[in-house]
Amino acid sequence: MTEHHGTIESHPLGQDEAQNTFPPSAEFRAQANVNDPSVYWRAAEDPEAYWAKRASELRWTKPFTEILDWSNPPFAKWFADGELNVAANCLDRHIAEGIGDRVAIHFEGEPGDTRTLTYAELTHEVKRAANMLTSLGVEAGDRVAIYMPMIPEAVISMLAVARLGAAHSVVFGGFSADSLRARIDDAEAELVITADGGYRKGRVSALKPTVDDALALRGGGSTVKNVLVVQRTGNDVTMQEGRDLWWHEEVVAYDDQHEAKGFPAENPLFILYTSGTTGKPKGILHTSGGYLTQVTATHRDIFDLKPETDVYWCTADIGWITGHSYVVYGPLANGATQVIYEGTPETPDWGRWWSIIQKYGVTIFYTAPTAIRACMKVGRQVPEQYDLSSIRVLGSVGEPINPEAWRWYHEVIGGEKAPIVDTWWQTETGAIMISPLPGLTSLKPGSAQSPQPGIDVSIVDEKGRRVDRGQGGLLTIRRPWPSMVRTIWGDPDRFVDTYWSQVDGQYFAGDGARVDEDGDIWLMGRVDDVMNVSGHRLSTTEIESALVDHVAVAESAVVGADDETTGQAVVAFVILKSQQQIITADEAEAELKKHVATQIGAIARPRQVFVVNELPKTRSGKIMRRLLKDAAEGREIGDVTTLADTSVMQIISDRVRSEK
Ligand code: PRX
Repeated sequence: MTEHHGTIESHPLGQDEAQNTFPPSAEFRAQANVNDPSVYWRAAEDPEAYWAKRASELRWTKPFTEILDWSNPPFAKWFADGELNVAANCLDRHIAEGIGDRVAIHFEGEPGDTRTLTYAELTHEVKRAANMLTSLGVEAGDRVAIYMPMIPEAVISMLAVARLGAAHSVVFGGFSADSLRARIDDAEAELVITADGGYRKGRVSALKPTVDDALALRGGGSTVKNVLVVQRTGNDVTMQEGRDLWWHEEVVAYDDQHEAKGFPAENPLFILYTSGTTGKPKGILHTSGGYLTQVTATHRDIFDLKPETDVYWCTADIGWITGHSYVVYGPLANGATQVIYEGTPETPDWGRWWSIIQKYGVTIFYTAPTAIRACMKVGRQVPEQYDLSSIRVLGSVGEPINPEAWRWYHEVIGGEKAPIVDTWWQTETGAIMISPLPGLTSLKPGSAQSPQPGIDVSIVDEKGRRVDRGQGGLLTIRRPWPSMVRTIWGDPDRFVDTYWSQVDGQYFAGDGARVDEDGDIWLMGRVDDVMNVSGHRLSTTEIESALVDHVAVAESAVVGADDETTGQAVVAFVILKSQQQIITADEAEAELKKHVATQIGAIARPRQVFVVNELPKTRSGKIMRRLLKDAAEGREIGDVTTLADTSVMQIISDRVRSEK
């Protein structure tokens, strides 16, 4: 390990950050898709012209003449008089360009089964599925719910729905029957596409029974007319006569010829539900032309994609926005070859991801900091057993990446040569908004750095005024962007209230950020995670970062708990690294309090540090700090049903109580 000078997060302002930057190598820069820095100012001069140019890289059945219609803010329209077929842009276009033999998907099932689909094969499968869906009555404007494991049919289903001009609503396979039902009802879906089950952690994880349970709720009546079931795991399922159909029995009846029609650019492409501050999930609506333009452009630029030679792998599930934009639409529109893996990284052991990278020669790898930290916890000796030399670009998404994880990722996975793109965006933004460009940016571990060309991000105070360099504030977006959320499905008022009312005339993302002396952006977490201790603002992310920077700490979560004296106080929960007995759990509290105080300042010193074995995480890996806050404040623990492991909170709250 190199000697470190404290994390950048811990000394963000006025620090000579140059010592921690990683400029692109001359070789990388020379071959990069984007290596002319003038792209930024050219796009800033005329963002609409920039996006129109990027949109023209797609295949339009009717070219657009209008670019942005912002006559009724905040409801944007992009390329509104143009028409295109999103699926044909991901498929037929490539066949017409003669690359039908290129591998689109290297599928790897968790049990080790594999399947390769070329673009020609994928196109045939999608056309056949589109014919099947048409016979089930799916038409433009309809909604189809998809509740699937990570198998090729999930991608085929999404593209088949899109091909017909209908909208999909993918519901993550880890969601409960209740959540699935709420999403089906809100979107008024008439068809559910699912599988008998998928493989997770060496076991069959059943899905169809959950669909049955969901549809039986509320007296059984729902908008759903049919359930189409892919056979994946062979577990017992009950098929309801007249409603349920086996994919493999149906699909053989259909032709693999299907002419794709063009649909207006603002035709809905999908609804994706995401949690808001209230209990009811928000149906984020994305449309076709602008969305596809931005996901395609950012995927090509930010990952420096060379579709002819790269093997790309994004580990996200299609149940999340990352799976939509950077597994399905961006990569396929770019004609990329990609890996899709069904299971978990630790099955059968923690070498699985690295063995997949070695096997397929993955060159671009995109994952989340939480996964990187889990791998760090297991230790570098695992990835070191594999040949990862094919990797040339690494990506990170979902939360700020703490510098220690960044450095590990860079060193152990990227062989110290692959640039890391830390990509900030949201379900609502549809595509990456802030990220380095790997051929241009001198990387700073822990910073997402630069708004993408054509994207107008500001850091503002509560009145919407830009803050000076070196300061923190709210992250807002001033100008509409092509892949922006168009509305909350069925609730335009909530759309206006949630995103456009807090900072006048600007989209407010819910994140705090600061801008350093060079103008680089550092995300500080959701503003709801910002604490106020003795009148000082502290970021949970910043303290967590300091904690994991300690050599003994694998993972941490910090909450601001009510405190009589200071308003809020910092309470930390940490997991110690298993293979290194550097400090005992008993020594940890004093040692880590001191460590945080040294790293950030006495103000950030935690009131308490609890050593725990697990943190409460949702199935998508997000830490539920709200529950930790309940425990830290000695309250009844709130709703734990969305946790991957519901017993974790009981153990933690018992632990906290025993300390009192
Ligand atoms: O707080 C930001 C965080 O994740 C939020 C969006 O979550 P979601 O809609 O689930 O989408 C996740 C995948 C795009 C943001 O408001 N976030 C996402 N990426 C980053 C991040 N925070 C810091 N750095 C990132 N790179």
